[in-house]
Amino acid sequence: MPYEVRGVIAGGKGEPVTVQTVIVPDPGPGEAVVNVQACGVCHTDLHYREGGINDEFPFLLGHEAAGVVEAVGPGVTGVAPGDYVILNWRAVCGNCRACLRGRPWYCFATHNAGQKMTLADGTPLSPALGIGAFAEKTLVAAGQCTKVDPDARPAVAGLLGCGVMAGLGAAINTGGVTRGDSVAVIGCGGVGDAAILGSSVAGASKIIAVDVDDRKLELAGQFGATHTVNSRTTDPVEAIRELTGGHGADVVIEAVGRPETYKQAFYARDLAGTVVLVGVPTPDMTLELPLLDVFGRGGALKSSWYGDCLPSRDFPMLIDLYLQGRLNLDGFVSETIELDEVEEAFAKMHRGEVLRSVVVL
Ligand SMILES: NC(=O)c1ccc[n+]([C@@H]2O[C@H](COP(=O)([O-])OP(=O)(O)OC[C@H]3O[C@@H](n4cnc5c(N)ncnc54)[C@H](O)[C@@H]3O)[C@@H](O)[C@H]2O)c1
Ligand SMILES: [Zn+2]
Ligand SMILES: [Zn+2]
Repeated sequence: MPYEVRGVIAGGKGEPVTVQTVIVPDPGPGEAVVNVQACGVCHTDLHYREGGINDEFPFLLGHEAAGVVEAVGPGVTGVAPGDYVILNWRAVCGNCRACLRGRPWYCFATHNAGQKMTLADGTPLSPALGIGAFAEKTLVAAGQCTKVDPDARPAVAGLLGCGVMAGLGAAINTGGVTRGDSVAVIGCGGVGDAAILGSSVAGASKIIAVDVDDRKLELAGQFGATHTVNSRTTDPVEAIRELTGGHGADVVIEAVGRPETYKQAFYARDLAGTVVLVGVPTPDMTLELPLLDVFGRGGALKSSWYGDCLPSRDFPMLIDLYLQGRLNLDGFVSETIELDEVEEAFAKMHRGEVLRSVVVL
C-alpha cells in the first residue's frame, strides 16, 4: 500500500510553499522508504522555489535529512528497516567513467528512486536533489541511505546530508586544507561556517571569515575563525592580504555564489594558491577576468560539488568526530521548526537570522 504523508511543495516560480498530501509508493527494486526525522532548510531549496535550478515544478523540497528506514524494495542489501541513516544525493553508480577511474566522489550517474512520488491527484513531483525530505516519509534509492551511529540526534546528523558536508568538504577534500595553511572563507552561512570548521579541524593556523553581516561574523568565531572582515565596510582583498603578510591566503573558499565574491576570492589568494567555489551561481551570472592574471597567479581554481564527499566514507567518520566532541555540529542548528514553517524559515534565511532552521518530525 502506498503511504499518504504531508510534504512541503513549491508549486510555481516564486510562489510561497504549501504543505500538501504526498503519495509515496511502496519501494520498488533498489529503493527504500525512509521515515524522515529531521530535515534542514538549505539555500538550495530556496533556489528551487525561485526557479533558479530548473522549471520542473511542482517540487517536493527538502534534502538535508536523517531518519529511519521504513521499508526496502526487492534486491536491497545495504540497508534494512530500522536502520538510522543520513540521506545523500550522491549514491554512486560504480560504473561511470569517474567511478571506474577510482574517483567515485565525482560520479556522473548517481542513483535516485525510479518511481515518482505524487500529489493526491497523481501529479508527479520533482524531489529536490532527488530526495524530497520535507515530508513525513520519502522514497529514495537505497544507495542514498548512509548508516551512521544513532547516538547523533537527527537534527544534527541530517545537516551532513548537504550544506554542512558541502562546506566541510570544500575545505578538507576540495581545498586540501592542511596544518599551517591560511584560509579565507567568503560568505558565512551554514556552508561557509562549515568550511571554517573544516579548516579548523584540518589544522589551518589562520582562518579569516568574510561576510556583509556582523551577526554572521560573530557566529563564525565559534566554528574556528581567527579573524573577521565585514566586506560591506572594508575591502576584503586588502584585508585578507594584510592579515597574511601582504600575500593572500593559501586557500580561499567562496560560499556565496556571485561573480563579485568570486573575484574577491580570486585576488585574495596567494600566488599558486587555491580558490574553491562552493556557492551556487544562477544561470544569468558571468565572470570576466584578465586571462593574464589567471595565468600569472598560478595555482588552482576549483569547484566543489557536495564537498567532493563520499557519503559512505565521510558521514560515519564525521558523526564519530561529532560524538567525540571534536566537531561542533550543534552550532549549526539555529532553531527547530514544524513542516508548515518552511516559508517563514526562508524569510529568516533571507534576513540572515539563522544558520540552519531544521524541520523536526
Ligand atoms: N556546492 C555545493 O554542493 C553546495 C551545497 C549546498 C549549498 N550550496 C550553496 O552554498 C551557498 C551558501 O549556502 P548557505 O546555505 O550557507 O546560504 P546562506 O544564505 O545561509 O549564507 C550565505 C551567506 O553569504 C553572505 N553574503 C551574501 N552576500 C555576500 C557578499 N556579497 N559578500 C560576503 N558575504 C555575503 C550572507 O550574509 C550569508 O551569511 C548557496 O549558494 C548554496 O546554494 C552549495
Ligand atoms: Zn559513477
Ligand atoms: Zn542543500
